[in-house]
Amino acid sequence: MNKYNSTDNKRDHFSSSIGFILASAGSAIGLGNLWKFPYVAGSSGGGLFLIFYIIFTLILGIPLIVAEMSIGRKTQLNPIGAFQKLDKRFTFIGIMGVLCAIVVISYYIVVGGWVIKYLYEFLKGAKDIGTDTELYFNNFVSSPLEPLIFMLIFLAITALIVTGGVSKGIEKISKIMLPALLIMIIIVAIRSLTLEGASKGVEFFLKPHPEQFKSIADVGRVMALAMGQVFFSLSIGTGITVTYGSYLKKNSDITKDAFIITVLDVFVAVLSGLAILPAVFSLNLTPSASPGLLFSTLTHVFEIIPLGKIFGVVFFLLVLFAALTSSISMLEVSASFLIDNFKFSRKKAITATCILVGIVGIFASLSNGTLSGVQILGNNIFDALSFFTDKILMPLTSLFTCIFLGYFFGADKISEEINTGAKKIRTVWLKIFTILIKYVAPILILIIFIMGLIK
Ligand code: PHE
Repeated sequence: MNKYNSTDNKRDHFSSSIGFILASAGSAIGLGNLWKFPYVAGSSGGGLFLIFYIIFTLILGIPLIVAEMSIGRKTQLNPIGAFQKLDKRFTFIGIMGVLCAIVVISYYIVVGGWVIKYLYEFLKGAKDIGTDTELYFNNFVSSPLEPLIFMLIFLAITALIVTGGVSKGIEKISKIMLPALLIMIIIVAIRSLTLEGASKGVEFFLKPHPEQFKSIADVGRVMALAMGQVFFSLSIGTGITVTYGSYLKKNSDITKDAFIITVLDVFVAVLSGLAILPAVFSLNLTPSASPGLLFSTLTHVFEIIPLGKIFGVVFFLLVLFAALTSSISMLEVSASFLIDNFKFSRKKAITATCILVGIVGIFASLSNGTLSGVQILGNNIFDALSFFTDKILMPLTSLFTCIFLGYFFGADKISEEINTGAKKIRTVWLKIFTILIKYVAPILILIIFIMGLIK
C-alpha cells in the first residue's frame, strides 16, 4: 500500500442519496450561475448561447460528472489517492484537480466576503450605500482592510461547516441551504418578472441575437464561452465530484444522481437570468459583465423598486447560501487529501488549508486596490487566479481524465462502476457515455482550451 492509498475504514459517507444530490448541486450552484450566466448569455447570442449551453451540458457536463463520480466511488479516496490507485502514472490528474479547488477557493472567498458585507448593509436598511452604488462598490473593494475582514468571516463560516464532517456538516447544511435557495430565487424571479418593462430583460436573455454572429469566428467564440460556463458551473475538473463521489455508498445510482444535479444547476442558472435581467432592464440600466452586476447594478435596483430593501436581504442571503455551499465543497477537497494522505485530523487539515487559502485570498483581495499594480500576464492577481483555473486547469484536468478513462483505464471498467447500484442496466447510455468520453469530449475540450487562450 502506498502513501496515498491508506483508506480509512471509518470514512464518513453521505447518509442519504438526497443529501449527496443536494451537496453536489450546492457545489455546482454558485456565483457562476448567479452573476456570470445571465450576463454572458445575454451579451453572447441570447437564445443561441442557451442552446449551445444546453447541448454542452448534455454531451460534456453529464458524462464528465458521471466519470468523476465513478472514480471517487470506486476508489473511496480523495482525487490524488484515487488516480494513483487506478494508475500511478496518472496521479498528476488528481494533483491538478486538488490544486484547482485550492486556487478557486482562494478568490471565491473574496467575493463571498463581499456578499456578507452587502447582506449586512441591506439588513441595516442599505442607508449607507447611497445613490451612487458603483462608487460605493469600488470604494469598498479597493479599501485595504474592510474586504479582508468580511473575507475572513466567510472563510471561517466555510471552515466551521466543513469541520462538522461530511454527513453532519456538509450534508446537513446543504439540506437546509439548497432548498431555501431554490425558494428564494423563485420569489426574487417573480418579483422581477412582474416589474414594469421586465420583458426587455427577458428578451435580452432569451431571444436569439443572430446579428451578433457575423462570422464563423463569432460562433466559435460563443461556443467556447458556453463550454467554459458548463465547466465552471458544474465544478468540473476540480476534484470536487471525485471527492464527493468517494463519500457515496455503493448502492447509489450514479447516472440518475448526475442527471438530477445537472438539471438543478441549469434550472437555477436560467432562473437567475429571469430574476436579475428583467429587474435591471425595467429601470433602463445596462447589465455589466462583472461582479458589478450584482453589487452595484442590482443594489441600485433594490434601492428603487417597491419593497426593494426586503428583496435585497432575500437576494443576498440566497447568494450567500449559493456561495457557501460551493466554497465548502472546495475546502473539503483539500481536507480530504490531507486526511487520507497525511493522516491529519479533520481540524488540522482544515486549519492548514485555511491558512494557505487565507494568505492567497489576502493578495487576491488587495489586488482590487492596494496591489492593483501587480500584474501577471496583464491581469491583476484576482483575475490571474481565475484565468489559471477556468482557462487552464479545469479544461486540462478534464481532458486528461477523458484520455485516461477512454484509452488507459478503459471505458468498460468505468461502465461497470456506473452500473453498480443502478436500478437498471442502461446499455444504450453506457454506449453513448463511451463515445462521449473517448471521442467527443476530448476534442471539444481541446477546442475550448485553445479558444480560451486566444483572446
Ligand atoms: N460551480 C460553482 C459556481 O457556479 C463554482 C465552482 C467552481 C465551485 C469550481 C467549485 C469549483 O459558482
